[in-house]
Amino acid sequence: MINQRYAKITGWGKYVPERVLTNDDLAQMVDTSDEWITTRTGIKERRIRTENDTTSSMAVAASREALKVAGLSPKDLDLIIVATSSPDYLLPSVASQVQDMLGAECGAFTLVAGCSGWVYALTAASQYIISGAYNRVLVVGVEIISFALDFTDRATCVLFGDAAAATVVEASNEPGGLLSFELGSDGSGAMFLYVPDGGSASPISQRTIDERRQYLRMDGPEVFKFAVRTLASSLKRVIYQAGLTPDDIDLFIPHQANARIIEAAARQMRVPLDKFYINLDRYGNTSAASVPLAMVEAFEEGRLKDGDLVAMCAFGAGLTWASAVVQVGTGEISTAHSLFSVGRARYLARRASDAVLDTAQSALLPLYTFLYQRRRKK
Ligand code: UT7
Repeated sequence: MINQRYAKITGWGKYVPERVLTNDDLAQMVDTSDEWITTRTGIKERRIRTENDTTSSMAVAASREALKVAGLSPKDLDLIIVATSSPDYLLPSVASQVQDMLGAECGAFTLVAGCSGWVYALTAASQYIISGAYNRVLVVGVEIISFALDFTDRATCVLFGDAAAATVVEASNEPGGLLSFELGSDGSGAMFLYVPDGGSASPISQRTIDERRQYLRMDGPEVFKFAVRTLASSLKRVIYQAGLTPDDIDLFIPHQANARIIEAAARQMRVPLDKFYINLDRYGNTSAASVPLAMVEAFEEGRLKDGDLVAMCAFGAGLTWASAVVQVGTGEISTAHSLFSVGRARYLARRASDAVLDTAQSALLPLYTFLYQRRRKK
């Protein structure tokens, strides 16, 4: 009998640059105010890289912390996935730089899915683990988005910040870890959030510099509508897919783009707002680092304990979105969660019936093949 494998988060760490840029600082640079930014977004301050920070160095700092929490050395890793839209260079892949700087001896790749990147990467890492291919995968979300911000454009420069967060995902035979997920893409909205120049479609030219086309452009209200539409509906789908209800979820970790988007989702789901983790007031939107940074801080603040069920959702450039339900904790699931949650029991029952069906189908396969061949011979 083959043991079911589960992918669990066993280590976490973060790195945020020292430099703090407040709303009042920004009001000195563009025509804005602390009042506008706070009421329209909930953001009070964000971190901006110093001259010592690169995407790779920030990813490595967060990864070292995550490995320490997991009790692993870089050589124990089977794979590294770095989610980012702001790598050190177009080539090489920043994941290879991270692998080398850590001293790991494994494959590494960069995953680009805008702000949804880390949740995409978490689900990818989990598939390598659940399939039995790998046992330990490092999943990083990192962004120096400030390099792509136009600090003369008040509509975008007030929203984002730089940060890195890393998680170690490991194989386990105890139920838990990633329970369900949804990945989404709607490329018809690509131009709502994009950087016009610097890719192969429109390489850097004099026009780039003259028209500031190397910087991020966003149709805020369009992305806002997409985000409000997506956050609550995608969260509900992954929660039901895991055999749970919103009431079973201990903590919601939404993408930290705008407090108004999170409040709208909480209202639509009829979930109290204090069940939604929010740290965007201190960091702004850190893109691919946003959800893992929030998760790391939730662990650090004791908002997450073994057995807790977390529902997360990220959305952004692409347009993309990615949601997941994860049961945190590395050991056995506490009795409170395994016995008293109807949703959890439903989930385990469904997994068991799927396993029985899989086994039955595998056992019957030679018979089907034999009957099929006999029919063809006739
Ligand atoms: O991770 C990627 C996902 N990104 C997002 O989720 C962002 C989603 N969008 C948003 O969060 C919001 O659309 C924004 C915060 C970007 C903008 O808020 P809004 O309430 O949609 O404002 P708006 O763009 O409709 O602009 C309203 C007014 C405009 O002035 P007029 O035309 O009414 O005179 C803007 O020019 O606010 C003005 N404005 C500002 N005023 C002061 C825009 N940015 C600023 C600013 N300071 N920083």
